Parts: sequence; structure tokens; C-alpha cells
Amino acid sequence: MNKIVNIEEMKIREIEKEYPFALSFFENNNLEIAGHEEKTFDEYLNNFSEEEIEEWAIDTEKIRIDFMEYISEMLEFLGLEKDDTVESLSIIGGRDKSGKDESFGTLTINKSEIISIVGATGSGKSRLLADIEWTANKDTPTGRSILINGELPDKKWRFSSSNKLVAQLSQNMNFVMDLTVREFIELHAESRMVENQEVVVARIIEAANHLAGEKFDLETPVTSLSGGQSRALMIADTAILSTSPIVLIDEIENAGIDRKKALNLLINEDKIVLMATHDPSLALMADKRIVIKNGGIDKVIETDSKEKEMLVELEKIDKIIGKMRADLRSGKTIEKI
Ligand SMILES: Nc1ncnc2c1ncn2[C@@H]1O[C@H](COP(=O)(O)OP(=O)(O)O)[C@@H](O)[C@H]1O
Ligand SMILES: [Mg+2]
Repeated sequence: MNKIVNIEEMKIREIEKEYPFALSFFENNNLEIAGHEEKTFDEYLNNFSEEEIEEWAIDTEKIRIDFMEYISEMLEFLGLEKDDTVESLSIIGGRDKSGKDESFGTLTINKSEIISIVGATGSGKSRLLADIEWTANKDTPTGRSILINGELPDKKWRFSSSNKLVAQLSQNMNFVMDLTVREFIELHAESRMVENQEVVVARIIEAANHLAGEKFDLETPVTSLSGGQSRALMIADTAILSTSPIVLIDEIENAGIDRKKALNLLINEDKIVLMATHDPSLALMADKRIVIKNGGIDKVIETDSKEKEMLVELEKIDKIIGKMRADLRSGKTIEKI
């Protein structure tokens, strides 16, 4: 299933057709591929004479590795490998940090459910998200297994990006090189074969600016976005373009964006959303919350109507705090409420 496996056997002509974005790799690395379309990339690299290699300081082994990484990261980023629909995700218990068995047995989460994950810092919230992202099969420190639609998932899930949201944009941005925000979104939209690209690009930048504290525009180079801005761009892009059936969110409250708007944008009838959070409003927006202690799932609490009512109160409090924050930023003094 994993397309990257056979790229070594593909001719450059086939690579161009299958992965149009490979062209920008060739251009950026000054690789003149014209006339070499019938060679594999390896054959093309082996084609350089010793003089050429010396004159241009070509490191063919490095180019080979960079190319594979580039294609793999782009495929992952673009979520190009389409997967079957996900109706449910199940977590089969493993062990907590002390080696004690988790007692919940199997926890199944269905499509359109929102689950929050709460627990002290260091308790294992990110670990649980990582288990899901990796579709663990007793091969992570927790010993948990993840089932998709009640079955041990095909390996393809591990190599597909369509079952996860990687919100750590800033760590993953290097491979997009010198793109502007517009080019970045267009690239993504093209790969999804979106018809009204202009409209989609406009929607994404609007949504991103809605989330980000400081505004940015389409001509901003991606590399000069702040952490909050790039997170906002990634979230808007994912919400509007991504087909991922499972969305994993790790503590968006730290990202310098409007987290509630972000969550609302990401919630979608067809998706399963799991979100680690310390924020009461976000935690209560979920249908259920998983409580993690000492590395293990301690319990699962359903958000009942009483707690949902508290959301209204929390909203009021959040507004007050939000106003204080804005006042502080703009140099005002805080008044008594
Ligand atoms: N069940 C477990 N068994 C062993 N190590 C665990 C387990 N759960 C979490 N850990 C480890 O504990 C550390 C803290 O977990 P992490 O998920 O980062 O916490 P949190 O996100 O809640 O702050 C990590 O190194 C993680 O791999
Ligand atoms: Mg964490």
C-alpha cells in the first residue's frame, strides 16, 4: 500500500506524473532532468560523470536520501493516500507506568464523537495520542493496541497521514522550502483536486486569521510565520481540506490561537476528535473525557447535562479573562469586575 516503497523503480516520467511536486525538488536542487525521463532517479544520479560530481560538488547519496524524504514528507503532508472510512476506533488497554494493567478493557470511540483527554502534566496524555497516531499494536511503552473498525489495522494506517492531524506545523515546515502562504495552500488544494481553488484558498486564510492573534496574508513566506500563526494555518488547512477521519489535538491552548474557535472548526460529523487539554471549556465540549493517571487510563467520564450547563458559566468567565488579557496587552489597568 505504501507508495514510497516502489518509487525507486519508477521512471522519472512516472514520478513526475504521480508526484508533480517532485519537480520543485529537481528545480530547487538544480537537477536538470530533461532528456532523462526514461531513467529511474537512481539511474539519473549514477549518470553524472566524475568531473561533473567534482565540479558541482554533487553528493548523489545525499540527494537520493533527501529526495526520498521529500517525497515521503510531501505525501504525508498532503495526505495523499486515501483510506477507507473509519467508523470506530478502539483502544485496548495496556499497562500504566508501574506496569499495572489498565482496567477498562476496550474503549470504543465512534465517528462524530469528541473525546477529551485530561490528566496531570507528565501523566501520559500525549503518549495516548501517539499510540493512536502510530496505531499501536503492543509495540509502544504502554502495550496498548488500537483497532480501526474493530480490527487490527492494516499497516497502511501507519504510513498514511489521513488518519491523523499533525498539528506541530513548525517542526514540520522545513520541507516546504520557500513557499508563501498562498503557494502552500494552493499546493495542498491542488493535490486534493479542489475545484474552486480560489474560494478555498480565501476560506483557509480567512479561517486562519480568525484563529491567529496577529493577522498575516497570502504573500507571507511560510517560514516567517510565528508559532501561533503557523498553527492557525495548519488547523484551518486541516479543517477545510483534510480528509483525515481521526483528528488528534495536543494542548492547543498553548498555541497562541483562539482555541475554542479552532476546535469548532475542526469538529466535523464524519470525524473522531481526540484532544488532550487542561482547559475546562474544551474538556466539557467533548462528549466524554478520558482521565489519565500514572500513564494509564484511569476512567472515562461522560459529560452529562449538568456539566454541559457549566459550559455557559465557563464561557462568561472566559470572556472576562479574555478582556483582561486584551486590556493588559494594550497597556490598560485591570478594573474590579
Ligand atoms: N503507560 C506508560 N508506560 C510507560 N511510559 C509511559 C506511559 N504513559 C506515558 N509514559 C511516558 O511518560 C512520559 C510523559 O508522558 P506524556 O504523554 O508526555 O505526558 P503528558 O502529555 O500528559 O504531559 C513520556 O515519556 C511517556 O512516554
Ligand atoms: Mg503532553
